[in-house]
Amino acid sequence: MNTQYYRLNPGILPEQPLREAARTLKHGGLVAFPTETVYGLGANGWDGMACKKIYEAKGRPSDNPLILHISSWEELGAIVAQVPPMAKLLGDAFWPGPMTLILPKSQRVPREVTGGLDTVAVRFPSHPVARKLIAYAGVPIAAPSANTSGKPSPTLAKHVIQDLDGKIDMILDGGGTDCGLESTIVDVTGVLPVILRPGSITKEMLEKVAGAVEVDPAVLEKPDPSFVPRAPGMKYTHYSPDADVVIVKGEQWAVIEKINHLMEANKAANIKTGILCCDQTAKHYQGDVVLSLGDRDNPGQMGSRLFSALRDLDRYGVKVAYAEAFEEDGEGMALMNRLRKAAGFQFLLVSQEG
Ligand code: TXA
Ligand code: MG
Repeated sequence: MNTQYYRLNPGILPEQPLREAARTLKHGGLVAFPTETVYGLGANGWDGMACKKIYEAKGRPSDNPLILHISSWEELGAIVAQVPPMAKLLGDAFWPGPMTLILPKSQRVPREVTGGLDTVAVRFPSHPVARKLIAYAGVPIAAPSANTSGKPSPTLAKHVIQDLDGKIDMILDGGGTDCGLESTIVDVTGVLPVILRPGSITKEMLEKVAGAVEVDPAVLEKPDPSFVPRAPGMKYTHYSPDADVVIVKGEQWAVIEKINHLMEANKAANIKTGILCCDQTAKHYQGDVVLSLGDRDNPGQMGSRLFSALRDLDRYGVKVAYAEAFEEDGEGMALMNRLRKAAGFQFLLVSQEG
């Protein structure tokens, strides 16, 4: 398949490529498009066959359901059986924006979208390209992240090209995405809202609006094999570069010393090693591939650079990478959630003595 590519300037959105992309979607095609979180791989959400193609293009397990994207509140009615008061409250506060709500589904939502669940994930993105595309298509757009299943989500169109060129109909390039991590998923079907996947809309922000908010245990730690996470996608390996990633945790200087030590040993064994760190510590590492994610006190910035850095590890041919652990509050919860998954939950704890 020949994948069409269009570069768009979100400042001045040209009609023609967006109309063409909307037509492609309506006719059952696949279009990758930018959102404020990561690039999405869109299909007509009412068309089960079109949604099936998403799974094939990504190599995605068929029991991992998709998010339906809307461009106005009015579009929500056809998708859901009802809008719980909590959905209205959180939607009013954070939509359009990087938040997905789990809601009771309507009869009309195809099985290919929900993977057989009786709930549906809905997001109202704020990115101008995403909003226009959905509005022009006139249907909800089912869209997972536009990466090969298991790889880091795409924050640039070139990441989409790396993974999906030749497998999809069209790519709309709107430049780098803002948040860089996928949306916060909140289940609002129960008594209390539950965060199933953390993102730029933080627990603290949700609590200000909703009062008490729970966090699904799979967000914070390696799920027990018998535990069934409520967002099916949370059980799969994710964001994995080819490199083996290990998170090193402990007092800052002990971590730096340990990583430098491990790196020296790897060098002697001819193992190409990478380091994921922050601006505050980067100068203390002497390695071939030292990648700073940004200011340690700005986890949002570090999160926005994580996926690109994970892809860079592969580009540099890194075999083993050591990542510093960061604080988990605010946007740090989303950053560490993705980093833990990229590392396959491999941790090395160091103390000052050793
Ligand atoms: O920011 C985002 O959310 C991006 C952009 C493109 O919008 N999309 C995204 O989609 O990250 P995806 O498919 O990579 O992740 C969707 C997640 C999966 O973990 C899936 O299991 C969960 O949402 N999910 C979908 N429907 C669900 C449902 N009914 N109940 C619980 N979790 C659900
Ligand atoms: Mg994804």
